[in-house]
Amino acid sequence: MVKLRFRYDNLKAFIEKDQIRLFDAEFSLHHKNLYSGKGKGSEFTGWVDLPSKTSNDLLSRIEQDALKIAKQSEVLVVTGIGGSYLGARAVIEALSNPLDGLMERTGKKSPLVLYAGHHMDEDYQFHLMDLLDQKDYSVIVISKSGTTTEPAIAFRLLKSHLENKYGKEEAAARVYAITDASKGALKKLADEKKYATYVIPDDVGGRYSVLTPVGLLPIAAAGFSIHKLIGGAKNMEKFLKENSGLSDNPAGLYAVLRNVLYQKGKTIEILAGYKPSLHYFIEWWKQLYGESEGKEEKGIFPAGAGFTTDLHSLGQYIQDGLRNLFETVINVETPQNEVQVPNDPDDLDGLNYLEGKRISYVNAMASKATMLAHVDGGVPNMEIVLPEITEETLGEMIYFFEMGCALSGYILDVNPFDQPGVEAYKKNMFALLEKPGFEEDTQAIKKRLR
Ligand code: PA5
Repeated sequence: MVKLRFRYDNLKAFIEKDQIRLFDAEFSLHHKNLYSGKGKGSEFTGWVDLPSKTSNDLLSRIEQDALKIAKQSEVLVVTGIGGSYLGARAVIEALSNPLDGLMERTGKKSPLVLYAGHHMDEDYQFHLMDLLDQKDYSVIVISKSGTTTEPAIAFRLLKSHLENKYGKEEAAARVYAITDASKGALKKLADEKKYATYVIPDDVGGRYSVLTPVGLLPIAAAGFSIHKLIGGAKNMEKFLKENSGLSDNPAGLYAVLRNVLYQKGKTIEILAGYKPSLHYFIEWWKQLYGESEGKEEKGIFPAGAGFTTDLHSLGQYIQDGLRNLFETVINVETPQNEVQVPNDPDDLDGLNYLEGKRISYVNAMASKATMLAHVDGGVPNMEIVLPEITEETLGEMIYFFEMGCALSGYILDVNPFDQPGVEAYKKNMFALLEKPGFEEDTQAIKKRLR
């Protein structure tokens, strides 16, 4: 049985039961097509049975490399962008002490994980290298295509820094490359330099790749159990496969309900969490849904919010602004640690009525109160409930959202596994940078900018 629960009782005011039933047959068809590889983009459905097909040999190899990284490094720099970055960060930050970077590292079993190659800010790169002057570190460089500009620039800098600091041989022993089996500049470089290398399967696209070495190596190196993560995903895989009727399949229901809401003019979905540690999980979800569905001039815009923080900024708009929003809220029942509101004899702040209550209780009441207020304000609300944040429940939630996304894309009648739109800016950027091969585009774009 899976631990994740999907609730949609708060949609009663917005969607009639009959409207859901209208999707029974369509859901069954898409569900079948995903498993038989007959839907759109089926060459990229390797993620569907990925958890159950992940071998213990692969997990053991990853764990051995993770131990090696931990032994030789105070800091691990994970270099990648988009699907080659967000999944690892989502899981690592959800499971980590957010103040870990400020703690003394002596005696720590795992390195502090930092990120590079996910933007092109020169100041960030400068400060990173400045810090790395003082730290022992390793690098995991991830790129499926092996040619993406942001991680390629960051890795060029890191490679040179590593080689200057440790010499070429030791530098090579501190680099782990995760890329295509045979093509791309990173593959060529990894072969030449004899870096330890992992393969991203051909049939798994970037944003569906967190359960491949792309996510697994950084997550293991950060000190978390990839066996449990894969175990959780495997449970969800089995559950969603076995439950082929819409009413028993929570990922199918999520996919259908968001499309019904979309058809009613709710064109923006906010995924909200009440734990700051879920920030990057929400970022991962934004990429998954944005890149999968936003095409052919349609698709729900995926937005994120961190509550209660954003109730003091976006809260006004959500409650009273344009009524084109719906929310999916991730609620976590039990935190890992316990902190209670203390007694204060003076009670000048008037908080003694909360004395002895856990902060998580106050947070949970804020969540319930907000949900009702938003529903009253015309914002439909769905809920994902996790008993706690662990590798296992994160594995479940990752697979739940992957399946929900694929089914939702099929209902929307788009190919949820391609991303033609991300090339447009790159073509212009290469033209402006005067990359060889873009000469005609360079001339044309320069005229437009005059
Ligand atoms: O999901 C995707 O395909 C993209 O977000 C890619 O992951 C991202 O652009 C990075 O690409 P690559 O792994 O080829 O460097």
